[in-house]
Amino acid sequence: MSKSINNVSARPVDARPCDRLTGRIAVPGDKSISHRTLILGGLTVGETAVEGLLEGEDVLATARAMRALGAQVERAGEGSWRIHGCGVGGLGEPADVIDMENAGTGVRLLMGLAAGYGFTTFFTGDASLRGRPMGRVARPLERMGASITARSRDRLPLAITGAVPPVAITYEVPVPSAQVKSAVLLAGLHAPGATTVIEREATRDHTERMLRAFGAEVSVEAVDGATRIVLQGQPELRPTSIRVPGDPSSAAFPLVAAACLPGSEVTITGVGMNPMRIGLIDTLVEMGADIAIRDPRDEGGEPVADLFVRGARLRGVEVPAFRAPSMIDEYPVLSVAAAFAEGRTVMTGLAELRVKESDRLAVMATGLAANGVAVEELEDGMIVTGRGGRPAGGGTIATHLDHRIAMSFLVLGLLADKPVTIDDIAPVATSFPGFLDLMTGLGAAFGQ
Ligand code: S3P
Repeated sequence: MSKSINNVSARPVDARPCDRLTGRIAVPGDKSISHRTLILGGLTVGETAVEGLLEGEDVLATARAMRALGAQVERAGEGSWRIHGCGVGGLGEPADVIDMENAGTGVRLLMGLAAGYGFTTFFTGDASLRGRPMGRVARPLERMGASITARSRDRLPLAITGAVPPVAITYEVPVPSAQVKSAVLLAGLHAPGATTVIEREATRDHTERMLRAFGAEVSVEAVDGATRIVLQGQPELRPTSIRVPGDPSSAAFPLVAAACLPGSEVTITGVGMNPMRIGLIDTLVEMGADIAIRDPRDEGGEPVADLFVRGARLRGVEVPAFRAPSMIDEYPVLSVAAAFAEGRTVMTGLAELRVKESDRLAVMATGLAANGVAVEELEDGMIVTGRGGRPAGGGTIATHLDHRIAMSFLVLGLLADKPVTIDDIAPVATSFPGFLDLMTGLGAAFGQ
């Protein structure tokens, strides 16, 4: 199905009020780790075997891009993929423009990669991605020697001609962004010498962990309250086996729904528990949620656990701004939990939410208000005041090609008095194919 902001083939779906959710589920593989697996696997010589790869549209776009750059990327079975790469420095010029569709992480990481090659790579994306800032990645890559021509200097479509070799730089990331950090590190893989990235606010560290797992030399240290990451360039990366953990950002949707609905009992198995990804769990527990972390274990360099959640009474909290990077994608669904909780939930330090797949602060505030929720939009956050029970619901939501907006409002529909309708289900396939079936298996009901 084609997708566009004025989507003629859009498929509306409504979520019906639900009593409780019960059952045991596994959510699809982590999106961040899946993108990185395809990219790093493409830089090895030999076979990288992947299990549990997310087969969402964003990741499939990265798989196609890696093929266009010369890597062999094949599906062996459900979630099971084999990558035969070309080695660091071994990729080739794509024959056509690469369409990354909705994949912000995919395009930004691949820009970093392309900055290490003397050929020209052209990127474009869907209406949502073409509206998102790329200058934050382009500026450091230009300092490394890449030349980049972008629409309005900051937007897709863009063309990037890399430097051979790129220059190793020291770069302090001006916004908390794992995508920017990762783009610089991927370019730095191709640079002789040490590339250094300094983060004032720590962000998800999957790139650093995975670079190490693939054999690169990466050091991470705390310096004056910041994190300093140093990568030694031009390593020989070795193929490795990756088991992708369940995506905590996808687990967030059944987790919030079950945490709110009294009588619910849901187990979500194999969820990634990277400390830079689990701020939502801390926040829900502060709100009074009943969540047990069971069987914590390590799988391929990432912590993983099963989550057992039961419905409980939630109250509003003030979410500390420093927690934002560890739950940046979870604020839309947290605001839904806040609509159900009793009292005020204050969320701040969220300017980055305005440049995600949609302006998530504006879209959530408008959508919550349309469903009878008391919400105040701030420049860098929002305040939601819940009634300690079901919000009214009954609204219809424009999803703006944003998968997390779509799923958040479907969760609201389960928790509300009246059904909530989203204008198009298609964006959900970006990160969570099978969302409706999985939620239906827990007891949710949707109408199409
Ligand atoms: C991601 C980083 C975050 C996050 C995105 C995935 C990643 O974006 O919102 O969904 O995989 O590096 P920023 O780095 O722009 O904050």
